[in-house]
Amino acid sequence: MEKDISKILITEKEIQEKVKEMGKIISLDYKGKEVLLICVLRGSIMFTADLMRHITVPVIVDTIAVSSYGDQTKSSGVVRLLKDLDEDITNKHVLIVEDIVDSGLTLKYLRKVLQQRRPASIKVCTLLNKQERRVHDASPDYYGFIIPDEFVVGYGLDYDEHYRQLPFIGILDSKIYKD
Ligand code: PRP
Repeated sequence: MEKDISKILITEKEIQEKVKEMGKIISLDYKGKEVLLICVLRGSIMFTADLMRHITVPVIVDTIAVSSYGDQTKSSGVVRLLKDLDEDITNKHVLIVEDIVDSGLTLKYLRKVLQQRRPASIKVCTLLNKQERRVHDASPDYYGFIIPDEFVVGYGLDYDEHYRQLPFIGILDSKIYKD
């Protein structure tokens, strides 16, 4: 599996340090409040699990599943809701947790759908921000790393459902997805 990675973009240590730092900032920003983390399946499972360990205010976790990629390497431009939340988010402080914001399509969709449910607040936290690919008007409130337009996998991110288990963010060898 690691032979399919052409370069490690962000090491496990760098990720863990950043996640800790983000958890501290979020804890300060939400002081005195309870935060409802929304883990956007499946990519953000690892990030959500690590991030919540560093949040010191009370946390509730829920999951939502959407898909905008199918099995392609580029966004299809269509978001599908695959699994809705279990919690009622009315009057709750919602923090959407994403692994990556790319075109911004998923984020724009999620903000719109969740805003209609009248939360007390809604913010977005992403580990990776592929800013140069943004085409939709959607930006995260917190991000860990701005990354270049490369096909990245690991730490929750997949190619064809594989590589999510890698503890680092790596650039996938183009041979893998061009074959
Ligand atoms: C990825 C990622 C974001 C979205 C970002 O999810 O987790 O949700 O794409 O892309 P965008 O900004 O262009 O919308 P994906 O649909 O690949 O599903 P997954 O999390 O299950 O891998």
